[in-house]
Amino acid sequence: MRRSLRFRLAVRMALAMTAALATMSIVGLVWARNFLDRELNANLLNVASIQASALTEQPSGAMEFHEWDLTPEEAAQVRELNRYAQVWDAGGESLLRTQYITRDLPLDTAALRTAAGMQLVMTEQTFQGMPIRSLYYPLERMGHLHAQHVLQVAAPLTGRNEMLRQLVWLLAGITVLSGAATFLGGWWLALRVVKPVHEITDQAESIRAGTLDHRIVADADSQEYESLVRVLNSMLERLASSFETQRRFTADASHELRSPLTVLKGEIELALRRDREKAEYRRVLESNLQEVNRLTRLAQDLLTLARSDAGVMQPRFQSTDMIALANTVLRRLNGRTDERRVSITLEGPEELTALVDPGLFEQLLWNLVDNAVKFSPHDGSVQVRIRQDGEGLRLQVADQGPGLGPDELPHVFDRFYRVDLARTSGEQGGTGLGLAIVRAIAEAHGGSVSAGQNSDRGALFTVAMPLVPGAQHPGGGTVADSGPMAAL
Ligand SMILES: Nc1ncnc2c1ncn2[C@@H]1O[C@H](COP(=O)(O)OP(=O)(O)OP(=O)(O)O)[C@@H](O)[C@H]1O
Ligand SMILES: [Mg+2]
Repeated sequence: MRRSLRFRLAVRMALAMTAALATMSIVGLVWARNFLDRELNANLLNVASIQASALTEQPSGAMEFHEWDLTPEEAAQVRELNRYAQVWDAGGESLLRTQYITRDLPLDTAALRTAAGMQLVMTEQTFQGMPIRSLYYPLERMGHLHAQHVLQVAAPLTGRNEMLRQLVWLLAGITVLSGAATFLGGWWLALRVVKPVHEITDQAESIRAGTLDHRIVADADSQEYESLVRVLNSMLERLASSFETQRRFTADASHELRSPLTVLKGEIELALRRDREKAEYRRVLESNLQEVNRLTRLAQDLLTLARSDAGVMQPRFQSTDMIALANTVLRRLNGRTDERRVSITLEGPEELTALVDPGLFEQLLWNLVDNAVKFSPHDGSVQVRIRQDGEGLRLQVADQGPGLGPDELPHVFDRFYRVDLARTSGEQGGTGLGLAIVRAIAEAHGGSVSAGQNSDRGALFTVAMPLVPGAQHPGGGTVADSGPMAAL
């Protein structure tokens, strides 16, 4: 199970605090024990040397401890401060014992032997159930008279042990309490840290397709959250705008599809109302065919744009002779210009090869020249120029029609955008998708298209694209069959 960030943060802080305090406690305890031991050892040595010199003052060699005159009850009260002393001969026989104890101190024979060899020895033993530390002190240091005598001075370790035990409990308590307090603090801190995240999540969750205009307004008081909210909001902005574009596109598309269908339906219903002459049926069918053609083309255009939106317009790049391809398109279009006697000329080098999708490029050229012809006056001329421009290909289509005003220029590539149908020299207006498709195709080839004013009069469209597109999509080409010929 995935634990919450809040929990993990609090646990980690608590663990870090506990580990730090535990380490400090251990270091402190070791230091305290060493300190107490040094004190005790120094104390034992001090007592031993005083007792030794007092004990051996008698010229006769008789020994006697100089001790406080305490009753056994009083001695019991200072039990932990007591220093017990006993004198042994080298054979382990007790010669003298302090009055505070009724039994001999435990004898460490190995230590006794070492001390008899003129060395100080420190040992730990148990005396009447009480841990003690003993110092074996060679009395030979006081003169030859005591060559065989060893003084043992012992101190109980209970006080020192008790102090260390209490210190352990104290430090352990501090460590555990601090760990717990840190956990609570971390828990509270993490709540503050993750609160904006919860707020942002809740708000983002409540935004649906219908409320894409809502924005996240969480109380992001830190830089990180502020930039998160900003990024999310700008993403929402983009989503909302593309959602709105798609919504408008769908609405426009349905509207465009409905008009020819209404015409078709009306004509068919009218024709079926009574029996008619053969010629009349023919006329109706011909008119129907026109509407069906219009619908077919519209459906093709919509499909092309939908594929471009979905990112599946993958050009099938081929090395293509652009001049030959342009000539083919122009020849076909020339057939349509007869009645208005619009002439189309092609300017360009003898040969120019580029890596393009021929089907898509044909459609691009067709849409541009079709517009130019459509908006040309009687006896007007349309110029198509193709040339190599460095590493790129430049295609221009210029006409002598009404051109495009500054208000229209920014919108001509929008879907379903049409200026004024009255200007189309009486021709039936298009759907306003032609230039949107031109832009989609140019972009799919890694290029761009721009619209402007021709030098004297009319419109000028310029397509710029690389001769060899950087990114190729082998195996693509899903729209290769949707060329202009297929559409018309
Ligand atoms: N050469 C031109 N001269 C003047 N206006 C133009 C020219 N080309 C395009 N336009 C304007 O831009 C609009 C959009 O052109 P577009 O080719 O996208 O649509 P359309 O020609 O109306 O319809 P379709 O191409 O789908 O049949 C046109 O309706 C027209 O108003
Ligand atoms: Mg057009």
